[in-house]
Amino acid sequence: MSLITEALLDDLKRRTGFTEQHVRVLQNLGRCMTPMASEVALAFYDYLGRDPEMRAILWAVPGRVERLYGRFADWYRELFSGVYDEHYAENRRRIGLVHARLGIRPGFIIPAMGIVQELSLEHMNTVLKATELYAAVEAFEKIIAIELAIIQESYGEAVEAGIRAGMASSEAALTQGAELLLREKA
Ligand code: HEM
Repeated sequence: MSLITEALLDDLKRRTGFTEQHVRVLQNLGRCMTPMASEVALAFYDYLGRDPEMRAILWAVPGRVERLYGRFADWYRELFSGVYDEHYAENRRRIGLVHARLGIRPGFIIPAMGIVQELSLEHMNTVLKATELYAAVEAFEKIIAIELAIIQESYGEAVEAGIRAGMASSEAALTQGAELLLREKA
């Protein structure tokens, strides 16, 4: 069973101080941010492609990057959907597991999320009024913290599943455990 339960999601919202007010701000923000999704995706994969290790992962499968642009743009738009329920959390958990299965460590994910923040803040700074900026940044930072926490939880879940399945190294536990959990869902 998934560890990303409604109770965990509630805990994450409470720990980040994520309220209905932040939900409304994110939803309103969507009007100026979602049209940027494809542009953010392009800049994001351009950034990943500049790192030799990440580039090797991205280009290991023909057509992978092209497919990822669309998936990433959907992920980006969903940040502003205004719906952050169990279904949302389960979807984010699955995305975490997809990365865990590939052995993409937090040392890649966290800086990459920093780039998403940088690109987004740059755009907010251009399009929002000065009086709107603080609330927008606050809400955005909170949803990003929740995103990162869910990915982190999914990695922990994968390692535990891998250890239960008898994997000897932490890397094998992460990748094989994630594979097992993703297969459970399929
Ligand atoms: C902010 C961090 C990141 C976000 C939001 C993100 C987003 C996504 C999304 C939405 C998917 C599609 C998952 C699915 O539904 O199957 C995906 C898959 C993938 N991502 Fe990421 N990603 C991030 C970081 C990275 C990093 C650092 C790498 C390193 C190379 C990477 C490489 C990949 C690969 C190889 C796939 C699988 C593609 C396939 O299905 O063949 N991602 N990512």
